[in-house]
Amino acid sequence: MSAPDLVVFHARLVPCAEAGIGMGQARELQTIEDGALVVAGGRIERIGKTEEVLAQTTLGPDTVLLDAEGRALVPGFVDPHTHALYHGRRIPEMQLRQEGKGYLEILDAGGGIQETVRATASVDDDTLARETRMRIAEAAAYGTTTVEVKTGYGLTPEREMRLLRVLAQVRRRSPVEIYRTFLGLHAWPMGIEDREGHLAAMDSLLGEVARRDLADAVDVFCEQGVFSAADTRRHLEAARAVGLAVRLHADELRPSDGAELAAETGALCADHLLAATDEGLRAMAANSVVAVNLPGTAFFLHEQALSASRQREAGVVSALATDHNPGSSPTFSMPMAMALAMHRAGFTPAEALLAATRGGALALGLQGSRGQISPGFRADFVLLDDPDYRVLMYRFGMNPVEAVYAAGRLVAKAGRVTEEVQAWIGS
Ligand code: NIG
Ligand code: FE
Repeated sequence: MSAPDLVVFHARLVPCAEAGIGMGQARELQTIEDGALVVAGGRIERIGKTEEVLAQTTLGPDTVLLDAEGRALVPGFVDPHTHALYHGRRIPEMQLRQEGKGYLEILDAGGGIQETVRATASVDDDTLARETRMRIAEAAAYGTTTVEVKTGYGLTPEREMRLLRVLAQVRRRSPVEIYRTFLGLHAWPMGIEDREGHLAAMDSLLGEVARRDLADAVDVFCEQGVFSAADTRRHLEAARAVGLAVRLHADELRPSDGAELAAETGALCADHLLAATDEGLRAMAANSVVAVNLPGTAFFLHEQALSASRQREAGVVSALATDHNPGSSPTFSMPMAMALAMHRAGFTPAEALLAATRGGALALGLQGSRGQISPGFRADFVLLDDPDYRVLMYRFGMNPVEAVYAAGRLVAKAGRVTEEVQAWIGS
């Protein structure tokens, strides 16, 4: 066995390796006091008590030793829902909503998502790629080591294919893992009248997406007045037929049968769910569909978050995501998502951290290699600036992340990304 690359010791280790991660299953998280972990080849080789681990490990001349000084060490956060690939901000829209305009009303009037579609089309690929890398680097500085990124600001086949190409460019040498989702059905493209023709074109595009390995999953904004349950079902079935994973924006603002549809189509997860029914949540639980909570979006749209108690009653496994996008959730902070989950939705701290790690990994089908600190998993972990992991929910809006490691490499320290990550942003 080759010498380890890194050994972290004197850490309060919170591996998030509990057997049951359904809502309500873990009251307290298992903790290894004075714990250590050994990293070799980008993976976690061993974990345990500092004394035992050091006794069992032969250090090499290049092994880096990191004394955690008793601080908490948790898995790198998995953010399973973002729309990070876009250009432009939408600050005036925030104020319009404050003045009483609805999210869908703004979209129907050609603003919202449509505004971002126009802005995204107005910049070249390199600019779009660089701006997206900057956002992902910011996410990493807040502890995110795996991030899902959707297309969805193209809307036509040509523009959506362009976004997939830019996403491939962003992924090159990325310090954090990027999971790719195709969201062609995010809104109706302006100026296109032929409904059937457009839906058929989007369905048939999926074959090419799969053949050229441009995406891992397909998502749809299934919402009254956007894409119906019938449109969504057809598109997701086309995705399944070519071997892509499926998921959906379900019951975000109004009940749209999204949760039920997720259960029927074998989706990995259903996201938002603010208007989901209890039957829908139960159907998800029965079919192992992860409930992705986006409490930042509820907060920013002045909506009630999906309650933890309803999720416990349904028996689902829940995940937490930022939903980063320029309209309804312009944050990339997973600690803030955890704070909102606790204080606005009633998650316990244990549920919030599990949802931000294991739940997210499950929502992406990456449960075997991401989201927990266990031997064989990718060496993605976050050293907090406090011995108590609950500082994540306590110091809301702040960044209690001291150091972030992805595949065993330091990517951020004290809220700043490393020079290596800076170089990737500019690449
Ligand atoms: O998840 N609901 C649809 N999509 C995003 C918002 C996208 C936007 O407003 O630009 C969401 O909230
Ligand atoms: Fe979203």
